[in-house]
Amino acid sequence: MSSIDGCGFRRSAGSFLLFMALCLLAGCGGGGGGTTGTANNNSTVTPSNESVGTPGNGSTGTTNDSTGPTSNGGTGTTGNDSTNVSVQASGSTLYQANCQGCHQPLASSTKLNKTAAEIQAAITANTGGMGSLATLSAGEIQSIADALKTTEAIPSFNTTNSDVFQLNGSAVLSNNNIRLTPNEQYTAGSAFLANPFTLGSNFVFNAYFNFTLGAGGRSNRHADGFVFALQTVSSKAGATGGNLGFGGIKPSFGVEFDTFKNDGNNDPDNNHVAIVTNGSVQHAAFAPVTPSVTMSDGGTYHVWIDYDGATVEVHMNTTNDRSTSSLLLAKAIDLKSIFSTQYVYFGFTGATGIDSQTQDVGAFYLTSNYQTGGFSPAP
Ligand code: HEC
Repeated sequence: MSSIDGCGFRRSAGSFLLFMALCLLAGCGGGGGGTTGTANNNSTVTPSNESVGTPGNGSTGTTNDSTGPTSNGGTGTTGNDSTNVSVQASGSTLYQANCQGCHQPLASSTKLNKTAAEIQAAITANTGGMGSLATLSAGEIQSIADALKTTEAIPSFNTTNSDVFQLNGSAVLSNNNIRLTPNEQYTAGSAFLANPFTLGSNFVFNAYFNFTLGAGGRSNRHADGFVFALQTVSSKAGATGGNLGFGGIKPSFGVEFDTFKNDGNNDPDNNHVAIVTNGSVQHAAFAPVTPSVTMSDGGTYHVWIDYDGATVEVHMNTTNDRSTSSLLLAKAIDLKSIFSTQYVYFGFTGATGIDSQTQDVGAFYLTSNYQTGGFSPAP
C-alpha cells in the first residue's frame, strides 16, 4: 500500500525519492509501508528491505542483541518541557488578532516575509489605517515578522547563527554542527528552531539536512539515533526524554534515524528509518525501512523530507545531489489531524543509552513554499 507506485509518485530523472507515509488508522499498520527497495537504481542509498516491524512481530524485547533493554535512552516518558511556550509562539496569535482581517490567514498572508522594520514603517505611516496598531511593542512586531518567515537556510551552525536554534540537554555546537549527543552513555539532547515556523497552506513544507553519526561507545557499538521532528510543545522539548529524545513529545511528527535495535519497539535492525508520531518510537503502525548504507559508519548522509499536504517523502543520499538520491519512504499522512496549528517547532532530538555515539546535524534548510522535488539541487 505504500509502494512508490502505490503512492502515486513517479520518479523523474531519478530524482524523486522517498518516502514515508503513515496511516493514522491502526488498521493501516503492519503490512503496510513496504517500499519496494528496487526502484531506485540510480540511487546511492536504497532501501534494502521490504518493510518489517509488523505489530507483535514475535520479538519479546528480551533478546536485545547488544546491550539490554536500557539502550535507546531507556523508556523515558517525559521528553518534553511543556511549561515553556516561548514568547515568540504568540506570533501567530498576534497576527490573527491584528493582521489577518486585512491580510489573509497567516499561512497564505499577503505579507509573508515582511520584516519587523517594514511592518513598523507601515504602522508609523498609517498605511491602510494600520496606525491603530501603534500599541504593538517592538517585540510583538518581531514575533509577527518571525511568524511570517517562509524559509530557513542554515548551511552550517556556528556562533553567528546560534540563536536560530534552541539547544537543549546534551546538544552543543561542535565544528559547525549541532552535536545532539556526545559519545557518552545515557545522554539526551535536542535542537529546535527557537521560533515556531509557519507551515504553508495545507501544512506543506520541504526540508533538507545532513547528519554524521561518529564514534561509537562500548566495542564501537552505536546508539541510539535521532529524530527529525515537528512538534508544537516547546523549543525546549526533548532535552530529557528517552526513545531518541522524542519520547513523550506530543503532538508531534517525526522521522527517526535509528541505529540500535530495540526489540520492544519492533525495531527491525540497528539501521532503520521510520515515521514516528506523538512521542512514540514504536513501529506498530509505521513500517521502518533499512537504507543500503550503514548510517552510523561515520559518513555524512544527506536527507530531504517533503510534505505536499498528503504524503511525506524521505530521500537520502551520500552526497547533496538530490537528483541521484533514493526515495526511502513515501507515506500518506495527515499532518492537519496531528497539529491543530500550522505554527510548529522544527528540529532534532537524539539520545544515547548504555551504548552511544556522537550525533551531528550539519545543515538545515526549510521552506513552506512547497516545491515538487524539494531543495533540488540541494543547497
Ligand atoms: C485595517 C486593515 C489592516 C490591518 C489590520 C493591517 N494592515 Fe497592513 N496594510 C493594510 C493596507 C490597506 C495596506 C496597503 C496595501 C497593501 O500593501 O496591502 C497595508 C500595508 C502593509 C504593509 C506595507 C506594504 C508592504 O507590503 O510592505 C505591511 C508590511 C503590512 N501592511 C503588514 C501588516 C501586518 C504585519 C499587520 C498586523 C500587525 C497589518 N499589516 C495589519 C491594511 C491593514
